[in-house]
Amino acid sequence: MLSRSAARALSSQSRQFSSSAARQTKVAVLGAGGGIGQPLSLLLKQNKLVTSLSLYDIRGAPGVAADVSHIDSQSEVKGYPADQLDQALEGVKVVVIPAGVPRKPGMTRDDLFNTNASIVRDLAAAVARSAPEAHLLIISNPVNSTVPIVSETLKKAGVYDPRRVFGVTTLDVVRAARFLSEVTGAHPDECKVTVVGGHSGSTIVPLLSQTAHGKAVKGEVYDKLVHRIQFGGDEVVKAKDGAGSATLSMAYAGAKFTDALLRGLSGEKGVVTPTFVKSDLFAKEGLEYFSSNVELGPNGVEKIHPVGPLSAEEEKLLAACLPDLKKNIEKGNAFAAQS
Ligand code: NAD
Ligand code: LMR
Repeated sequence: MLSRSAARALSSQSRQFSSSAARQTKVAVLGAGGGIGQPLSLLLKQNKLVTSLSLYDIRGAPGVAADVSHIDSQSEVKGYPADQLDQALEGVKVVVIPAGVPRKPGMTRDDLFNTNASIVRDLAAAVARSAPEAHLLIISNPVNSTVPIVSETLKKAGVYDPRRVFGVTTLDVVRAARFLSEVTGAHPDECKVTVVGGHSGSTIVPLLSQTAHGKAVKGEVYDKLVHRIQFGGDEVVKAKDGAGSATLSMAYAGAKFTDALLRGLSGEKGVVTPTFVKSDLFAKEGLEYFSSNVELGPNGVEKIHPVGPLSAEEEKLLAACLPDLKKNIEKGNAFAAQS
């Protein structure tokens, strides 16, 4: 027979065990051998909320996994070769997808559609089969179209929950903070900007007027800053000169968004960040998806925030965004419908 204090200690130990068991989070990276996938895997290995990391690619994932697995954090890492996609997804709660081809100079993100649409569709179908309750974080471009493709694929498989599908637009948010800080001289932490819309050129709408530092930027400096945030991806594509697009800053942004989702899933309150999700905000204009501030919680999307007050310039940016974004979404839906 246990003494009362021993019984109390045992019951507190088992409570701790069950709450930490509830926080066990297996995360998969599909495309882990690539320019984004490798540094993203490295950053996720350092995240304490990740207990197990499953790395998959059609090329090189076991090697990346062996390398990353030597890092002295608690999580386990396993790599899977091309023919083990379903095994890679077993028990996974969060799937991050940076698989697919990147741009070369002169290309738009939409030029990647023909190659990346089927890659993303097939990976989403595998998630539907092997991890139907997982949250999917889509990095593969064109995000404005790949998110609808993933959603439609999950719908066909009967496992779609709009609270669990996210287009990762965090790089636009990261760039906006950095570029605004360069213009104003303020620290990037004080330059947080909500970026809404989608993830390509004119569909990227930074709401500078909603921040103290951003509100002060006017005239030509404002126009140049907005252009730089909208077309920051082109700067990197041009500088890499045929060797791809943003990988390191994207891995940082992808890890940042994954961390926000994991914090929301684990019950932390007030985790709010822009992401491209199924949204009614512009349903009247015919848009099914839109990126705005989203509160993340135990089920994924907890609450979609409205865009908030806009300046006259931002009204114009939004008016230019909506028709382009609608076309990108419809293109993704049409592809999924014929697949
Ligand atoms: P990369 O070519 O370096 O890596 C892509 C990886 O995907 C490769 O390792 C490749 O083997 C793998 N892959 C291809 N088909 C696959 C499949 N069916 N299953 C699993 N893996 C597969 O490219 P990258 O620079 O890492 O970029 C990847 C994607 O991310 C591109 O589409 C790029 O445009 C996009 N991207 C998005 C953002 C964003 O903000 N959302 C930012 C940067 C890049
Ligand atoms: C980016 O914004 O850097 C990415 O979408 C990659 C690209 O093609 O520009």
